[in-house]
Amino acid sequence: MTAAARPRTDLPGPSGDKYLGNLHAFSTDPLGFLTACSRNYGDVVRLGANNVLLTSPGDVEKMLVDRNAKFSKASADTRRGSRRQGFPRSTMNSDGAEWHAKRHRMQPAFGRSLATKAAEIVDAQGERMLAPWRPGQARDLQDDVSVLTLRLVTSLMFGDEFSDADTAEVARLVAPIMDLSTSPVLLPEWVPTLRKLRIRRSMRRVDRTLHALAASPAAADPQRAPVLHALVHGDPAPSRDELRDELATLIMAGFETTNDSVVWASVLLAQHPEAAERVRAEAEAAFAGTPAGLARMEALSYTNAVVREALRLYSPVWLTSRDATEDMEFGGYLIPAGTTVTVSQWVNHRDPRYWEDAEEFRPERWLGNGPKAVPRGSYFPFGLGPRVCIGAAVATTETVHIVADIWRRYRLELIRPERITPRPALALQPMGVEVVPRAW
Ligand code: HEM
Repeated sequence: MTAAARPRTDLPGPSGDKYLGNLHAFSTDPLGFLTACSRNYGDVVRLGANNVLLTSPGDVEKMLVDRNAKFSKASADTRRGSRRQGFPRSTMNSDGAEWHAKRHRMQPAFGRSLATKAAEIVDAQGERMLAPWRPGQARDLQDDVSVLTLRLVTSLMFGDEFSDADTAEVARLVAPIMDLSTSPVLLPEWVPTLRKLRIRRSMRRVDRTLHALAASPAAADPQRAPVLHALVHGDPAPSRDELRDELATLIMAGFETTNDSVVWASVLLAQHPEAAERVRAEAEAAFAGTPAGLARMEALSYTNAVVREALRLYSPVWLTSRDATEDMEFGGYLIPAGTTVTVSQWVNHRDPRYWEDAEEFRPERWLGNGPKAVPRGSYFPFGLGPRVCIGAAVATTETVHIVADIWRRYRLELIRPERITPRPALALQPMGVEVVPRAW
């Protein structure tokens, strides 16, 4: 390599506190901090001694698609002591050949037939959620939708074997364990915090409940519980811990993200009455004219555009990190092996260099063939490349259907719109979404 071509090592970035670096700025306002880093320092930003943010769409694509094999997900999650308590043996947290075998074992169960099944069962579950709603009576939208999406993900993957009580318990126990794996403040594993003791106890209960599920008759029936069947009877046969990690991760990955996407789409519709009216008209015709299933989904093209736009502005996954396993060059800079490299959906989905009226809700941009000039790495709510979300089709089907079902029946009024804020936790949660359903 000639001297002129040698990548630079002087990465620009905020200097932060002498001891804590940018930890404080990141933990108090992660979305604002990452946006400011991108605006102020360009496409490759040094966030800390061993941390880099990439913001150009080309680099996002390079990282997640072309150079996927040169990055490790497992190490970013497991290397730091306390993260090991997450679910390290799941597909989501594995790497290399191990990841490949696990993904391969589960992938066939996530084909078109699962999305069809999702489109078919979502009707009855939506009915259940909406049954107690009354015009003029306030509802906590986040609570209502989370019960629905949790039921959907469990019945879709595991059959109806799981009772509502089991479902709620596993979700309650799993949430803090998953949260631990994204906490920016990481204590060494040996520090015995109260939280960790609670988590260890939770883990034992999660283990028991999920193993009862794996031993249930549904697990033997690929029609009733396709994903559970694929896992339990898969090749390679999963160990007990591996099975628990897969099941727990699927529950969490599948329900909270879908929940957030339904609620954000509804918040945006409540703020944009013309779009809401268009969804109502489309949904009324689609529900009247086509039975539940994928055909109805095709009749919901505007609602689909609303959901895509909601996933742009409020992508439930707002940050994706990997560790570089070898020295690499990005944007003319050297990224040494071992660096944690981050890309952010929040930053790229709102980057005014690539999006016209980036901060505005404009579902129309997705109609027809979608926005033409937008590069691939500017929109990746489900990730990109080999590790793209395995549940993307199911999640889209569910979200579009639930949004259409709510809005064909009611117009939602936000009670305190000024209180609604995105909380960047494990997913980008909408906080304070209380609504009053009104008759149209
Ligand atoms: C709106 C809903 C959803 C969103 C926004 C979402 C987003 C994502 C993203 C961004 C990734 C890639 C993360 C990375 O590159 O590190 C991912 C991976 C994954 N998602 Fe989803 N997801 C959603 C729903 C679901 C559902 C319904 C399921 C399953 C039932 C699911 C299961 C998974 C799994 C297993 C992976 C790991 C794939 C792998 O590493 O090979 N997700 N998801």
